[in-house]
Amino acid sequence: MFHFNKYFYLILVLFFNQILVYAEEKPYSKKELKSGSSFSKKETRAIENDDFSNPGMIWVEKGEEIFNSPEGINNTACADCHNQSNNSIVGVAAGYPKIDKASNLLVNLEQKINLCRKNKMKVKIYEKESDSLLSLSTYITFLSKDQPMNVSIDGEAKKYFLRGKKLYFQRIGQMNLACNQCHDQIAGSFLRSEKISQGHINGFPSYLMRWDSIASVHKRFQFCNTQARAEPLEIGHIDYNALQLYIAWRGNSLLIESPSVRR
Ligand code: HEC
Ligand code: HEC
Repeated sequence: MFHFNKYFYLILVLFFNQILVYAEEKPYSKKELKSGSSFSKKETRAIENDDFSNPGMIWVEKGEEIFNSPEGINNTACADCHNQSNNSIVGVAAGYPKIDKASNLLVNLEQKINLCRKNKMKVKIYEKESDSLLSLSTYITFLSKDQPMNVSIDGEAKKYFLRGKKLYFQRIGQMNLACNQCHDQIAGSFLRSEKISQGHINGFPSYLMRWDSIASVHKRFQFCNTQARAEPLEIGHIDYNALQLYIAWRGNSLLIESPSVRR
């Protein structure tokens, strides 16, 4: 009898585990995950894969320069505190967005860079989407190239994750469209001569040829909102961070490809 009870208990646990797993099922299994570059045109992919022709590499170089330039009353550079032997930032981009321990808020890489400027360097923070900020984040992300995306949705991050997930499936705007309707349901089909991808962010910051500029994840969200005739949020909005966390998680294990090149 005792044995039976124990067995029964095990089945119960397995059953509830099943429910938990189901509740957080990803739209694409690990095997089905495809990075955005596999949906772009062959010519565009060729530009991306060649460091000499990839225009995003200019941002990487600019970012490296800023990273090594001293500033402020203490005359410090990022590189003084972040180098091979101390607080290395190689690989960290794969874990963003993540909870900033000091503020307990979910921050993305651009926001974390500005936190370091404000708190550690005591210099003025960069404007959102400015060349300097995007150069730095592109450089830092480039230092994680080919590493698997690996964001955490545990602990304090959980509530943001759930918020982001909700936003991803929420129909909005004049066309009453949710992100998943394009990026999960009809990925692979064309929208105005552009092939719709699975909507991952492992290529971000990403170089957009139509703008001749690097774009952050939030900038891309704004663009998708606008294209689907919905009101975009401000860059840096906490809801965009939440959405970014959900999307990063759903693409966890994809290798970082930034700076990717898109039309
Ligand atoms: C009407 C269809 C549509 C909707 C709705 C839509 N997108 Fe997109 N999205 C596109 C198209 C088209 C592109 C450009 C081709 C591509 O990369 O998928 C794109 C690109 C992206 C990319 C860049 C992928 C890459 O590899 O460069 C991301 C990220 C993204 N969308 C996220 C979102 C999010 C988040 C939402 C919801 C707020 C959303 N999209 C809603 C059509 C849509
Ligand atoms: C005076 C030293 C100092 C300077 C200068 C500094 N940082 Fe930091 N930075 C730190 C410390 C310490 C941490 C780890 C604690 C934390 O997260 O706040 C950190 C954390 C970070 C992280 C997060 C790493 C992770 O594991 O998630 C990034 C990214 C970062 N810094 C980028 C920069 C950039 C870019 C600059 C230059 C604009 C810069 N830092 C300047 C000390 C510094």
